[in-house]
Amino acid sequence: MNDLSHTSALTPLAREVERRRTFAIISHPDAGKTTLTEKLLLFGGAIQLAGQVKAKAEKRNTRSDWMSIERERGISVVTSVMTFEYEGLVFNLLDTPGHEDFSEDTYRTLTAVDSAVMVIDAAKGIEARTRKLFEVCRLRDIPIVTFINKMDREGRDPFELLDEIEKTLALSTVPMTWPLGRGRDFAGTYDLTASHVRLLDKDTAPIPVEAGDAAALARAVPSIDAEAASEEIALVQEACGEFDLAAFREGHMTPVFFGSAIKNFGVGDLLKGLGDYAPQPRDQAAATRMVEATEDNLSAFVFKIQANMDPNHRDRIAFVRLCSGKLTRGMKVKQVRTGKSMSLNAPQFFFAQDRALAEEAYAGDVVGIPNHGALRIGDTLTEREEIAFLGVPSFAPEILRRVRLPDAMKAKKLKDALQDLAEEGVVQVFRPRDGSPALVGVVGALQLDVLQGRLAAEYGLEIRFEPSEFALARWISAPTKAELDSFVTSHNFSIADDLDGDPVFMAKSAFDLRYQGERSPSIVFADIKDVKKAK
Ligand code: G4P
Repeated sequence: MNDLSHTSALTPLAREVERRRTFAIISHPDAGKTTLTEKLLLFGGAIQLAGQVKAKAEKRNTRSDWMSIERERGISVVTSVMTFEYEGLVFNLLDTPGHEDFSEDTYRTLTAVDSAVMVIDAAKGIEARTRKLFEVCRLRDIPIVTFINKMDREGRDPFELLDEIEKTLALSTVPMTWPLGRGRDFAGTYDLTASHVRLLDKDTAPIPVEAGDAAALARAVPSIDAEAASEEIALVQEACGEFDLAAFREGHMTPVFFGSAIKNFGVGDLLKGLGDYAPQPRDQAAATRMVEATEDNLSAFVFKIQANMDPNHRDRIAFVRLCSGKLTRGMKVKQVRTGKSMSLNAPQFFFAQDRALAEEAYAGDVVGIPNHGALRIGDTLTEREEIAFLGVPSFAPEILRRVRLPDAMKAKKLKDALQDLAEEGVVQVFRPRDGSPALVGVVGALQLDVLQGRLAAEYGLEIRFEPSEFALARWISAPTKAELDSFVTSHNFSIADDLDGDPVFMAKSAFDLRYQGERSPSIVFADIKDVKKAK
């Protein structure tokens, strides 16, 4: 597939970086993400049997109540990463959580990828969730490869689907393959770049057919109306522009593949497309400079924390995306937020069914680092340099609640548990300066159920939520410390500290927030918190 022959001129590090593709799959529930993931992993030889991904998920689900929330609602709350190799390339597939309540978590996962595969159900077209995830990708200029799935079933007209992508997402489409036959008569695809036919249900080599040669097409696929299909292919070639790699990389154009994940059809073409077009690990913006993936020194950021993956061991894994350089097991890195040094003694790679110690990893890879709370979401790790990566933000919660604990003896335990879960990004915790009980904030209501379930299952804490007098939380800043201090002092009953000790203004209503804003024009009320960019 990929021509890597020129890579001999590259440094060993650059060669490793060049062969990496780190991507996520975005889709609406039921479009076929899980099925496609299984098939992709099969290609990489990462799993032996299709069905393993689901089986694994089900096994995990039995482990705690938190997981049963996930099961009951038929969603996947856990983000995981799966690494597989195919034809000389290393693919890191990051799974995005399936429920829209978890937009914050999803957003963070998408900060760690260089491209995305958008899976569309051929019968349904662009659905709400796909659109939302697409918007996040667009914010970050993530290039998108499109896979139109379930071609083995009755679906919508392919031209209509392309038109819908173009209109609703403002994204140019360039089909790479074209379906031959529809629904029950779907017989395979015509590869528009390689000029060959690939047949469904037949494990044969592709059959070369020149575009426009209806007779050859009829010989290759006797079951379809070859004359009509040939005309359609001519129309596709005429109507759809040339594929422009630069436009794709900038997020304006998407190559489109048609297939059927369940029949393992079109998945190889998709994987080849990812290998050929999807970018290698991109340069990443830090507060003070751009960091190139091929720089010698290691840099990385934490985009996800998962605690208690196995409650028996109370382990806590920080998922770290490497941005530059090489990680070698046992090396020492600096945690920029605290200035502390830590040894990476047990970094882990994740496969479909397994984890393994990562002896070495390169920019683009995602490794899990077991730790006891030292690492937080958004943390940067470097060999020495004082840099902080941008773009792993916190969003102002839309729902605020007080946590009511009937058993007052367990207050300390609750405080620690909330701290754990806030560091993991399950909820945000705000500690009011006036000493009243902590408030928890979430972006979606489902997170409250997850919090309640996990507090019970993992910490033995039965809690209830009570409404809070506050409706909104905003991070506050001001041009000078004196101005900020003065605001904080005069609004002490409405100020809380977030996890990092940054001040947050708690407003009773949107009106209250607007009123305070007008009265204190020098104060900035922010609904997103990110690492600050150097001026
Ligand atoms: P998701 O992760 O995006 O939610 O989707 P998932 O892969 O679980 O697929 C949703 C349903 O669509 C599943 O059926 C799956 O078998 C089916 N499916 C996936 N890809 C294709 C395809 O290419 N063609 C057809 N015809 N169906 C496909 P289910 O009945 O809900 O689940 P199951 O009992 O088959 O597991």
